[in-house]
Amino acid sequence: MKLVTTKSELDKVINTEHSELSVGLVPTMGNLHLGHLSLVKTSLSKTQRTIVTIFVNPKQFGENEDFGKYPRTLEQDLKKLNALPQSENILVFAPQSEREIYPEGFSTTIEVSGLDHALCGLHRPGHFKGVTTVVYQLFKLTNAHLAFFGQKDYQQFRVIEKMVQDLSLPINLSMEPIVREKSGLALSSRNQYMSPAQKEEASLIFKTLSQLKESFLENPDKAMASRERLLFAEPRWQYLEILDAHSLKEVSEQTSKVLVAGAFTMGDTRLIDNILFRI
Ligand code: PAF
Repeated sequence: MKLVTTKSELDKVINTEHSELSVGLVPTMGNLHLGHLSLVKTSLSKTQRTIVTIFVNPKQFGENEDFGKYPRTLEQDLKKLNALPQSENILVFAPQSEREIYPEGFSTTIEVSGLDHALCGLHRPGHFKGVTTVVYQLFKLTNAHLAFFGQKDYQQFRVIEKMVQDLSLPINLSMEPIVREKSGLALSSRNQYMSPAQKEEASLIFKTLSQLKESFLENPDKAMASRERLLFAEPRWQYLEILDAHSLKEVSEQTSKVLVAGAFTMGDTRLIDNILFRI
């Protein structure tokens, strides 16, 4: 495994070692857990080199969000990557200065409209343009052919997919399944903000989404009514939705894939999760 921290070091490796190879990209904000490592393993199995980027992107955090306390654990992250089979094919790009991604005077924003009217788009204004701006930069800086993202951030994936399509970016995307704890809780770097009791309680998120899925398959109208009841009975749900997975709008006769998604606040920790299924 190799580590670079500057754009010029990254360029050098890309130009000297990657020119003839297929390159996978796993963009992360670090504090790697088994979900990230599973993306890296998949990339290693499908491409000849994998670039893992580790950068806590300030542009995607709102003013009152957790940018300041987001866990930065580079040393442990490197150890975890180094312990993977085929780690010799990993290049880590972990810029130590924001300027490596956003040079002095950087004033461009990439914004995809049309998919941010729901879910996190409604509740985290400006979040997705921070994501698309950084991901565009990472695609460009790494010259990767294939990028891997987790389904946990389903709306993020869809927004990035639309950016790639609209701007004809020369990269393919792959969305990989959510990795969960035994309790069903989706793995997230933010899980560590919770106490053991809160983590246990947080397993209700996946349980609720699973119940809504089962109920929808039996009787969509009943599922919609229980969604509403659950949302109003528990103020810690920031949202709890059953939507057409393609349009992120209401389920209709045309819907072929359904997204059941929720955002839940456990103390100060905001957790998201979802289930996707065909009908
Ligand atoms: O999903 C994440 O960890 C981030 O949003 C990403 C894609 C690395 C961009 O900062």
